[in-house]
Amino acid sequence: MVRQIEGYTPGEQPAFGERVVKLNTNENPFKPSDKVIQAIREVEPEMLRRYPNPTADGFRAAAAKVLGITPNMILAGNGSDDILTIATRTFLAHGDILAVPDPTYSLYPILAQLQEAKFITVPWEKDYALPIEALLATKARAIYLANPNAPTGTMVPPSKMAELARAFPGLVLIDEAYVDFADDNCLSLVKDNGNIVISRTFSKGYSLAGLRFGYAVAQPQVIHEMMKVKDSYNCDAISIVAATAAILDQEHARNSWNHVREERQRVSVELSQLGWTVLPSHANFIFAICPEGRGREAYQGLKAQGILVRYFDKPGLTDKIRITIGTSQENNALIGGIKALTVAEKAA
Ligand SMILES: Cc1ncc(COP(=O)(O)O)c(C=O)c1O
Repeated sequence: MVRQIEGYTPGEQPAFGERVVKLNTNENPFKPSDKVIQAIREVEPEMLRRYPNPTADGFRAAAAKVLGITPNMILAGNGSDDILTIATRTFLAHGDILAVPDPTYSLYPILAQLQEAKFITVPWEKDYALPIEALLATKARAIYLANPNAPTGTMVPPSKMAELARAFPGLVLIDEAYVDFADDNCLSLVKDNGNIVISRTFSKGYSLAGLRFGYAVAQPQVIHEMMKVKDSYNCDAISIVAATAAILDQEHARNSWNHVREERQRVSVELSQLGWTVLPSHANFIFAICPEGRGREAYQGLKAQGILVRYFDKPGLTDKIRITIGTSQENNALIGGIKALTVAEKAA
């Protein structure tokens, strides 16, 4: 069965020190909090000799305080991809249906395939509105939604997600990997909806993609079931102390979120002025339709200038590129690179 699966294709990861403007995998452009680095420096050899706390309880206590929930509503994971794997293994059995609005995060079909579940996509409605009726009609066991969505950056309002969760008897997994850059989130829906699991990550909002840490929020009985499925020690001792320090330094994280929001607005306006159509984004990236629809050429032309963005060679997406919002300097380089493309095209 595994032979038939293509596997997930991650974005390019150039070697450290390579001189590129890296706007292709939605990392935070700022370094993590000094408090995170301090916490890692303070790791004692004894902490490494022993197994870590199996359920990352130090992190759960800190996160519960910050989020205003109880620790038994939280499950820690080795990145949010680990959370998505745990949820899939917990709630989907062989032959069950996983439904998603399309396009979305390209890991979901792979998780379904590995679980020998059926995968059904439903097109987004106009302006990326949630296709509630069409999703319900799939008779799925679970619905996964990235919110804000990837690669579009668009967002479904929490009220609509609540409507879906009330109408749907199965699991609604809301992947909030990018929620720190949005104005709203679905955390408050968990209280009244036992079928919602929220998944979050430290890779984007907390500048810790290299650390591998994420978490799920759900009602305690749901977390209890997911605990049975996770690897015994799925988070290592270093990541637990680092993620705890990160979530406690909200001020540092929020500064980067605010910068990203401001720059997202600036880059969107500048690209629009250059003839690109930019979808309204609630994430730390924008999805932009290239003039004349030449996504591949734009991706290649920027790469030739040392600027990496993400291009998806899939039906319906070939006229677009996804651009991570970087530092102001990186964004200036991007805009310069795009202007150079236009000049080169005119000259050709
Ligand atoms: C929608 C979405 N969910 C989850 C992830 C995985 O993030 P993590 O680094 O926490 O595994 C990504 C990564 O790009 C993503 O785009």
